[in-house]
Amino acid sequence: MTTATGGALLLGGLHCTLGQRQILKGLDAAPLHSGRLTAVLGRNGVGKSTLLRSIAGFIPCTAERMHLGGLDLRPLGAAARAATLRYLPQSAPGGLHLTVYDCLLVALNAHHRHPSPEARRRIDEMASGLGLEPMLNRYLDELSGGQKQLVWLAQALIHRPRILLLDEPLAALDPNYQHHVMKLLRRLAAEQDLIVLVVLHDLNMAMRYADQAMVLHDGRVIAQGPVRQALDPGILAQAFLVAARVEHCSRGTPLIVIDDLLKL
Ligand SMILES: Nc1ncnc2c1ncn2[C@@H]1O[C@H](COP(=O)(O)OP(=O)(O)O)[C@@H](O)[C@H]1O
Ligand SMILES: [Mg+2]
Repeated sequence: MTTATGGALLLGGLHCTLGQRQILKGLDAAPLHSGRLTAVLGRNGVGKSTLLRSIAGFIPCTAERMHLGGLDLRPLGAAARAATLRYLPQSAPGGLHLTVYDCLLVALNAHHRHPSPEARRRIDEMASGLGLEPMLNRYLDELSGGQKQLVWLAQALIHRPRILLLDEPLAALDPNYQHHVMKLLRRLAAEQDLIVLVVLHDLNMAMRYADQAMVLHDGRVIAQGPVRQALDPGILAQAFLVAARVEHCSRGTPLIVIDDLLKL
């Protein structure tokens, strides 16, 4: 069996070595529940991409626990895991000279000239949910970075995964698109009961949109829970080497303010 119908993602005792370096050192996480958006945070090189790629099955790792509900992911290769999860890499592929509509057909493995009514319905549903209708007949290589990001997201979601793993999806986006994508991800997580893990660098985006934060440091999770609690000054100091505090702006929105850098 390669599909799962429910349950949380359970990660425990996760080890991953790349080259000679141990990157994940027995990482344990609290259960990651359906319908929740988790921001994966940590300094450059701490192992965020490694964690996502390990879950996706792209790099070898050992784990005491890597289960989605009752489904043990460990014996499954990347192709088999793709039945339940989708991973969007940090650097998405460049634009292809294909229309957005054709890209979604390719993702569905549908017949190019004579797509089935079901394939057409799935594409229409996806386009309307993500606001892609005006782009369906445009070529991917003519779209902006943010528009392409939405197409990659649509390609991932059209498979109706249970888990979505997104590696720095905001990196190339203007502030408007950053908020658009984060709102969309939060809505999709809740509406489609998805487990969404998003690698972010902007702590304030995490605070605003994520249900919980998972903070990585030295190959392990050092804090996980509601973002305000997980990102306390002690954790921020340990994980990012910054002296930081939470302030409230005039509208009451909490914001993390970094006052200074700490020494190693
Ligand atoms: N193929 C590889 N071989 C050896 N080391 C690697 C390889 N890929 C990544 N690394 C190292 O693993 C560490 C974690 O990388 P990564 O997971 O990409 O970090 P992050 O996404 O948190 O910035 C980094 O120090 C990186 O240099
Ligand atoms: Mg990375």
